[in-house]
Amino acid sequence: MTQALTILGSTGSIGENTLDVIARHPDKFRVFALSGRRQTEKLAAQCLRFAPQFAVVADAESAAELSALLAVAGCKTEVLYGEKALCDVASADEVGGVMCAIVGAAGLPSALAAAQAGKTIYLANKETLVVAGALFMETARRSGARVLPVDSEHNAVFQVLPEDYNGDLQRHGIESIVLTASGGPFLNTDLADFAAITPAQAVKHPNWQMGQKISVDSATMMNKGLELIEAHWLFACPPQHLEVVIHPQSVIHSMVRYRDGSVLAQLGNPDMRTPIAYCLGLPERINSGVPPLDFATLSALTFQTPDFNRFPCLKLAYEAMQTGGAAPCVLNAANEIAVAEFLAGHIRFTDIAAVTEHCLSQNFLPAAADIAGLLAQDVETRRTAQQFAARLAK
Ligand SMILES: NC(=O)c1ccc[n+]([C@@H]2O[C@H](COP(=O)([O-])OP(=O)(O)OC[C@H]3O[C@@H](n4cnc5c(N)ncnc54)[C@H](OP(=O)(O)O)[C@@H]3O)[C@@H](O)[C@H]2O)c1
Repeated sequence: MTQALTILGSTGSIGENTLDVIARHPDKFRVFALSGRRQTEKLAAQCLRFAPQFAVVADAESAAELSALLAVAGCKTEVLYGEKALCDVASADEVGGVMCAIVGAAGLPSALAAAQAGKTIYLANKETLVVAGALFMETARRSGARVLPVDSEHNAVFQVLPEDYNGDLQRHGIESIVLTASGGPFLNTDLADFAAITPAQAVKHPNWQMGQKISVDSATMMNKGLELIEAHWLFACPPQHLEVVIHPQSVIHSMVRYRDGSVLAQLGNPDMRTPIAYCLGLPERINSGVPPLDFATLSALTFQTPDFNRFPCLKLAYEAMQTGGAAPCVLNAANEIAVAEFLAGHIRFTDIAAVTEHCLSQNFLPAAADIAGLLAQDVETRRTAQQFAARLAK
């Protein structure tokens, strides 16, 4: 029997990698629904290839465009649009697993719908856990939804934790979870040149092919900050037991440090099809299409401690994690606006941290009350971030 899957964000980098893995295993998986925001031609091509029952886009205009493309090609996929449609295809009875690969907080409602419906969730959208980690994990616990981490670092940690890990570090003899970070394209750039960094330079990651937003997050190391918060919720790990180490080669994807001095790591080529295949295949190991790691061509594996002067966004994320409540939601919303403004050429690379720091210095909800409260905070922070970014505009 094949498993029916919904792929949210199928036109993105994770979405395309997921479809690449699925296409290798027609005996195991079939596609129930796909989604994109506005890339209708790419989505139409995916519909023709995978014949899903539904395809979801962001708005009526994109839906009309996609419907026309599919009609010409004689494809029977039904086109839907809007957030409710995303939630519907994430929670439909026919669906077993949901790949959550929409970028940003926009991915939260559909991921939450999958959690409420008790689905197996392949979670790439880290912003879900950053904005609403407590609520999301509690929802999944109540419904029995299984949350499997797609993010390569968390997937690595998941692979090297004890199989019966229950969040009790003491019981399992765990000292800390160590997230590795490449350091991005500006690890060795002169600090004096940071203000002049262009969007084209920032999205050029040395090791990974990713969407634009996460590529900029990697360049500022906000990505690692978001991942700290993600690990905090996924593994019920207190902030003081989370470490970050820079490892520029991106071969070790993360590690767990045990009490007896052992450090267990997961290694592999930097290719997201490995963690995706791991999640989809569990408990089996299935072919991902990733070439084997060639030890003969690995020159050296090096490590260094992150420098907060170079990467102030990482420091802001550490602080937001420690503050808790709505602080990570503020951090995320401010960063999303700042990154979009930077990519649009309106503010400087160094302004991303300035916008985020400004928003974190404002008054906000002390506790993450409920999803409505968090979403209201998200909207409010986006407004503040937009206004502050306009003041910094070049
Ligand atoms: N890329 C990686 O290697 C990687 C690794 C680890 C974790 N992640 C995480 O995975 C998520 C996806 O990253 P990505 O790099 O694949 O992003 P991406 O390439 O930018 O793709 C994002 C996907 O989300 C859709 N989308 C964007 N905004 C939307 C909105 N407002 N409503 C509905 N759909 C929307 C896009 O549709 P259109 O294409 O039509 O715009 C696209 O399908 C992010 O949370 C990221 O942090 C990514």
